[in-house]
Amino acid sequence: AIAEIGLIGLGTMGGNLALNIAENGFQIAVYNRTGEKTDQFMAKAGELAGKLVPSKDLKDFVGSIKSPRAVILMVPAGEAVDAQIEALRPLLDAGDLIIDAGNANYHDTNRRAEAAEKQGPRFMGIGVSGGEEGARFGPSVMAGGPTDAWNQVGHILEAISAKHDGEPCAAHLGEAGAGHLVKTVHNGIEYADMQMIAEVYGVMRDGFGMTAGEIGEVLETWNGGILQSYLIEISGKVAKAADPQTGKPMLDIILDRAGQKGTGRWTAIEALMLGTPASTIEAAVAVRNMSSRLDERKAGEAEFGAAPQPMDRNVLGIDALEAALVAGKIVCYAQGFGLILEAAKQYGWAMHLPKIAMIWRNGCIIRSAMLNDMSAALTDDPQRNLMFAPFFSEKLKETEGKLRQVVAQAALHGLPVPALSSALSYFDIMRTARSTANMLQGQRDFFGAHGFERTDKDGGGYHGPWAMG
Ligand code: 6PG
Repeated sequence: AIAEIGLIGLGTMGGNLALNIAENGFQIAVYNRTGEKTDQFMAKAGELAGKLVPSKDLKDFVGSIKSPRAVILMVPAGEAVDAQIEALRPLLDAGDLIIDAGNANYHDTNRRAEAAEKQGPRFMGIGVSGGEEGARFGPSVMAGGPTDAWNQVGHILEAISAKHDGEPCAAHLGEAGAGHLVKTVHNGIEYADMQMIAEVYGVMRDGFGMTAGEIGEVLETWNGGILQSYLIEISGKVAKAADPQTGKPMLDIILDRAGQKGTGRWTAIEALMLGTPASTIEAAVAVRNMSSRLDERKAGEAEFGAAPQPMDRNVLGIDALEAALVAGKIVCYAQGFGLILEAAKQYGWAMHLPKIAMIWRNGCIIRSAMLNDMSAALTDDPQRNLMFAPFFSEKLKETEGKLRQVVAQAALHGLPVPALSSALSYFDIMRTARSTANMLQGQRDFFGAHGFERTDKDGGGYHGPWAMG
């Protein structure tokens, strides 16, 4: 046995991760269900082939890894992971380690971790972000599992990860499904970030009548400021690209029907299950669902007429759109970190929130300059809503008026901005000491005698004059 680690699943992500590990000097065993893919992979490995140990038989693969063995799985999330674990279990020792690096639902990871504790081998779930390029040249790695497992492979994961000022964007974040929970929330935030950019794109396109190229210029400028981020950067590039076939702006050719693999939806589901507000992320998921109803939308336009109305450019400046994105971004991260905090409480995971912001600063899809400020704010007080951290409360005070203008003008002109408007509503509710939930409590007591608390007395269980004898 010569390999320091093994990897199963040589699809794009798995193959790139293996090459990354090899390039960082680790001998790595590789295996794929279909041997053909292994051949193709090896043929393209070039000078890294010397660091790769391919096998076409699972037993040989396991035999080529040094004990205690560590095996990374990069197979489609779901049943394929369970099937692979079952196939490996008889071949591995109890002290060996299986690492699921796919986009697993963290409840599955919790279940697999529990099974592993009972029957071995040890199990870890790691979230890997950064797409194909990240996997190859440095992803962000969010690990969950037993500490001894991290102690075994942490140095490899740190070596292959992206770096921020020399610091690895890889960390052990907690037990069992903690890493996959964080990856899921990462993707939920990714959905919201993307959606809010799409919304301001919509205001510029349909409100201001700007061309894709002009919008690309704006995004490029924003990327030099407070919004500096991978998603703004690539959105600018997408907007400026031309379709090689027609010469038209690529964006004008791409059909407006968004796909999704499910992690954003899981974030929304999780938020609802944990009873923690993530309305901006929920809105982003809902919009993807609406976007897929293309025929219905066409019928809607025929029935009701097209909504978007051109806007007077003097009503709203480009700077207002930038400010709205800043405010929306702060709110959506406040919701995302709040969700992680709640899940950590629920599962008794000692999760280090600043660390999460730190390892999101590079390698992952949501990497941005603002994450640096977030890691500082969370270091200061990890329990506090991010909106209340001095840096971000200042930013919100500066930008909330602009967010309000954008949402209001968009509504008046029939331009849908659901993620931004949900961010505004969240902000407005969270800054309102006297909300309207007293009405809800009155209603609940009226029809169900659920009881309420009073503003002028301690305790609960009070009823209104409508209560039945
Ligand atoms: C990442 C991405 C990655 C992937 C998502 C896309 O962090 O590298 O989030 O995980 O691109 O699966 O998700 P949707 O297909 O749901 O948009």
